[in-house]
Amino acid sequence: MLSRAENDRFVRVGAGTPMGELLRRYWQPIAAAGEFDSGPRTKSIKLLGENLVLYKDKGGNFGLVDRHCPHRRADMRFGILEDCGIRCSYHGWMFDETGKCLAQPFEDQVNAKARFKDKITLKAYPVRENAGLLWAYMGPLPAPELPHYEPFNWDHGFKQLVFAVVPCNWFQCQENSIDPVHFEWAHANWGKRLRGDEGKYVPTHVKLGFEEFDQGFSYKRVREDTDENDQLWTVGRVCLWPNGMFTGDHFEWRVPIDDENTLSVTWSYTMADPERDLPELTSIPWWYGPVTHPETGEWITSHVMNQDFSAWVGQGVIAERSFEHLGQSDLGIVKLRKALKVAMDVVEKGEGDPKGVIRDPEQAKCVPLPTMTRSSYEEYKKIAFGKAGESWTPEDEEGVKKRTHSFDYKFQFGQPDHIRKQFLEFMGFDK
Ligand code: FES
Ligand SMILES: [Fe+2]
Repeated sequence: MLSRAENDRFVRVGAGTPMGELLRRYWQPIAAAGEFDSGPRTKSIKLLGENLVLYKDKGGNFGLVDRHCPHRRADMRFGILEDCGIRCSYHGWMFDETGKCLAQPFEDQVNAKARFKDKITLKAYPVRENAGLLWAYMGPLPAPELPHYEPFNWDHGFKQLVFAVVPCNWFQCQENSIDPVHFEWAHANWGKRLRGDEGKYVPTHVKLGFEEFDQGFSYKRVREDTDENDQLWTVGRVCLWPNGMFTGDHFEWRVPIDDENTLSVTWSYTMADPERDLPELTSIPWWYGPVTHPETGEWITSHVMNQDFSAWVGQGVIAERSFEHLGQSDLGIVKLRKALKVAMDVVEKGEGDPKGVIRDPEQAKCVPLPTMTRSSYEEYKKIAFGKAGESWTPEDEEGVKKRTHSFDYKFQFGQPDHIRKQFLEFMGFDK
């Protein structure tokens, strides 16, 4: 349990708050690069409590700037995109992606000598593209390296980027990244009941383990139906520092929009038949899913991440941790809180980079993570057919086609038809 004041240190993300300052030391995924494929455009976003505009200019440069123009506060979302920068559409002041004021048409006309523009900047943050995502860095410069995690290099499979806006605080979402027992209940058992299956509950967890490393924690489990030789124990999954998770085939980040809303960002990978020549994709497909049913307003609970969203939002907009009662299953959460506390202290005391920040470009080029082989093709077949290591018979192929045709993307509700179609064609299930 945490006191109100202790809780506040974890949940508040605005500039100047301990957690806000800590999270600003890391690159955050904020959108899909593919959202800007159709050409220059702006998109208003809120990140760590700050109202911002993300844009791509005519020269292909990405920028992330204050929502409001420093002249008289007009909305930069309506900005005119130039070859290099964005121009406020109200009186034409123009800025580059570093926030430098390049032009003030009327001031430049009547009093160029005063160079008023040299005194003006638009708040701006660096943006970079990696793994199909756009990443922003809102901390002190120079920015650290943007980690390129090793799975981003996996090339023989279908990738997609999935987003959702979840109306609760980021930290209860991230605590879920180190909560092994919830898989048994929130997904397996609750999922069964939601499907109307009144059968026996799934095998229970009997042992948990947590190991800290530079990029987070690995968490391991033994269930009644597994032993310590299983990769669930020998490798485990990753609570990715500071606000993500990696399961072996997908990443999830919980990116704070503000204290009361979180952008869920998923980078998902499905391995394809190793024998298959894959079509080229120009950019990674992306989509945003709803969290409630548009007609009824009810929470969507049919898909894995929607079950998580429902659990997180159910904890309250900001979970009241002074009322909680932690048990043995929460050891990982205790470890995560401790590590975040240490990292917040490092930043507050000005003691240099907190945990996990990478400054060495060579190191950032390929950051390895513990990876269970769930994404291997054999495993994929196991999931698809319920049997491992057997050859892919025509009946199997029929079976997988049926499943992939009849099932949505199982991790999150709302995959659009055109992406489903793209997936089926890509994987060779389109006949
Ligand atoms: S408000 Fe932006 S140029 Fe005047
Ligand atoms: Fe979950």
